[in-house]
Amino acid sequence: MKELSVIILAAGKGVRMKSNLPKVLHRVCGKEMINHVVDNVKGLSASQIIVVTGYKQDAVKAVLDEKVETVWQEKQLGTGHAVMQAMPLVSKDAKYVLVLYGDTPLVSTETLKGLIDYHRGSSCGMTVLTVEMDNPEGYGRVLRDSAGKITAIVEHKDACPDQRRIREINSGIYCFDRELLLEGIGSLKNDNAQGEYYLTDIVEFLRDKGIIIGGYRTDDAREVMGVNTKYQLSVVQKIMNRSNLIRLMEDGVIIDDPDSTYIESSVVIGADTRILPGTHIEGSTRIGPDNVIGPGVRIQNCTLGSGNEIEFSVLRDSDIGSGCRIGPYAHIRPGCSIEGGNRIGNFVEVKNSRLEEHSKVSHLSYVGDGDVGRGVNIGCGVVFVNYDGRQKHRTIVEDGAFVGCNVNLVAPVRVKKDAYIAAGSTITRDVEEYSLAIERGQQVEKKDWVKRKGLR
Ligand code: UD1
Ligand code: CA
Repeated sequence: MKELSVIILAAGKGVRMKSNLPKVLHRVCGKEMINHVVDNVKGLSASQIIVVTGYKQDAVKAVLDEKVETVWQEKQLGTGHAVMQAMPLVSKDAKYVLVLYGDTPLVSTETLKGLIDYHRGSSCGMTVLTVEMDNPEGYGRVLRDSAGKITAIVEHKDACPDQRRIREINSGIYCFDRELLLEGIGSLKNDNAQGEYYLTDIVEFLRDKGIIIGGYRTDDAREVMGVNTKYQLSVVQKIMNRSNLIRLMEDGVIIDDPDSTYIESSVVIGADTRILPGTHIEGSTRIGPDNVIGPGVRIQNCTLGSGNEIEFSVLRDSDIGSGCRIGPYAHIRPGCSIEGGNRIGNFVEVKNSRLEEHSKVSHLSYVGDGDVGRGVNIGCGVVFVNYDGRQKHRTIVEDGAFVGCNVNLVAPVRVKKDAYIAAGSTITRDVEEYSLAIERGQQVEKKDWVKRKGLR
């Protein structure tokens, strides 16, 4: 849409958030609010997207796409003042300008399209996206005359009790004819409860000029929810999470308890994978079909094949094959490649290691910087001693090797194919194929020592 420019306001600190982070950088389901808005706007193919930054502008700019233009509002003197800063950047070729706020992350591309189409097809000089809210507290109210024409928007703080009873609210999303917006912006004053230049005062200015103000109503009040407080942030996140889960269930994923499940929109999951309660799946994670994940699992940026069973465990930045059993209480740290049919049991930590197929690390072990072959058995309480205080070194355990309980493998070291290591050994030199390595003190037994001491 060449004739359309978009202005997104994102300069405010967000005082009501009580945070050092600019409001629009707070994340909803893993993505900054401002980027939800930018991404939803991108679907309109506007000729330009301008973001008005202010409080901590460098931090805000740092998360924005290069294609987005920015302009700085040095002092946050109100939404009208913010639009004023952006106007010099708006292309003269733009017939229409969409203005929206960076703190309404749920608004969909479809709703924005609906608003713009409505505006273009009407004789309105400005169209406001409105909605009826059960609890309109905090929002600007839309005033209409007896014929139903919009005459003003009055802010909650400036509204009298009668006006506060109005349930139709201003979403903060508007489509303007560019030339009227320019004129309207020039007319704004700051004589109100907040001492700010309200963008919404343009309505009265245009009305007095005889311009028709359109109201495009959407029925989904949730879509236009503005985030002003941390509580509202949580409400918006819950709504977005729920819609992510519904989309996954529609694609065939089984989710036992949506109320206690959190899955980001970037995550891909195959059909008939079952997600049990208390599970969080984040980032670029891709999961195949027929897995059982949870209860109590957190997965970030991992790929998983199919048919895995994972419970009460944390997995980060790693690849898991198919048919593995992981947990309870396993920790797969970044850089792992755990191939098919492996067993990682309780209280096992694996870091920056590769395990080929069908190996077992069943209990209480640390596998750090290891290359473990196929069919290896790592006993209970084995430690890959990977750090000498200065550097990390690798431990190689080749196919079919058997590492007994409570063994230390002091890296760099190699346990060759089908070798055995006796329980309790501290291994500092390579072990040859088919050998048994044993490193422990001799057992001494003092006969009748207990009786001689008079203990029994
Ligand atoms: C605003 C609307 C209100 C509407 C509500 C919808 C006005 C005057 N009020 O109120 O009618 O119902 O949104 O969510 O517009 N901003 C700037 N520079 C400023 C001030 C604000 O860029 O000087 C940005 C903020 O960063 C924020 C957005 O504009 O992203 C909205 O500001 P906010 O203070 O949250 O307005 P509301 O009080 O919610
Ligand atoms: Ca707001």
